[in-house]
Amino acid sequence: MNHFLSISDFSKDEIEVILQDAFTIEKYWNRSKNYCNEFVLENKCITTFFTEPSTRTRFSFERAAHWLGIHVLTSADALHSSSLTKEESIKDTLMTIGQYCNAIVMRHKDEGFVDIARQYSPVPVINAGSGSAEHPTQALLDLYTIKQKFNDLNGLPVLICGDLLHGRTIHSLVKLLHLYGCKVTLCAASMTRFLPWSHQNPIVSKFDIPSNYLENCNVSIVEPENVKDILPEMEVIYMTRIQKERFTGSGNFNFFTLDESNIDKVKETAIILHPLPRNSEISEAIDSDPRATYHQKQVRNGIYIRASLLNHTLKE
Ligand code: NCD
Repeated sequence: MNHFLSISDFSKDEIEVILQDAFTIEKYWNRSKNYCNEFVLENKCITTFFTEPSTRTRFSFERAAHWLGIHVLTSADALHSSSLTKEESIKDTLMTIGQYCNAIVMRHKDEGFVDIARQYSPVPVINAGSGSAEHPTQALLDLYTIKQKFNDLNGLPVLICGDLLHGRTIHSLVKLLHLYGCKVTLCAASMTRFLPWSHQNPIVSKFDIPSNYLENCNVSIVEPENVKDILPEMEVIYMTRIQKERFTGSGNFNFFTLDESNIDKVKETAIILHPLPRNSEISEAIDSDPRATYHQKQVRNGIYIRASLLNHTLKE
């Protein structure tokens, strides 16, 4: 079964095919259909089943599906509008929805849904965000955006800042960057200081990060107050928000903010990425900077990558 539940489900060769097809789709996006017959999937249907909020992920999947000619059944607020409210299990839910469509795009706060999907879903399931664990399609579009700018990713210096503990986009992206040999520096917000790939972290043991990750994977750590010193070396700056909704209680966070006081330290050639939504970790003053890639290119790349992924999942 062609599930995409974790970055680890795809080999580097498969990822390259998805990126290459996304490139073709991007080229043909605004042209008429007969330019890209290989991407027409008219008799197929997907369900987008989301039990956590989403703006970009669900809409871009649905837009991508429409472009491919795929029918879409959607449940944007499935936690309240589906039989999950009647205590139906995820297993029964997937077994049911799978009778109505050819693939399920699912976001759920319980990261364990991916194991249930793998075991019981009668159709391929694409992970659109599993609790704090993974968000593999976001990582693919992040990689696509990075590759549009940089030909050679081997040794590319990438800085990732924010909620290392709960940031599912980070967890997926770091795996992918490792596959491409990038040199990753991490800056955790305080209170999210558990490194996700330290095996003391309860989240980590649930997904297959190698035990020697930190030592062998070109990953280093920087404190928020020292980020300014390494900014001039970075080619990719990936900012994320603090996932306040995943914390119990409240607290003050110390985290790195990209703003007018430090943007001058960023390389001319660098790109600034953010999976969005943004809170205060990037000042709005940065939005008009030519290096800020999050609001246009990165968001838009979501439709090309997701169209490519749906095509890969559904084509016969
Ligand atoms: C992220 C998510 O939902 O994990 N957003 C997204 O899908 N683009 C990031 C976040 O919520 O902070």
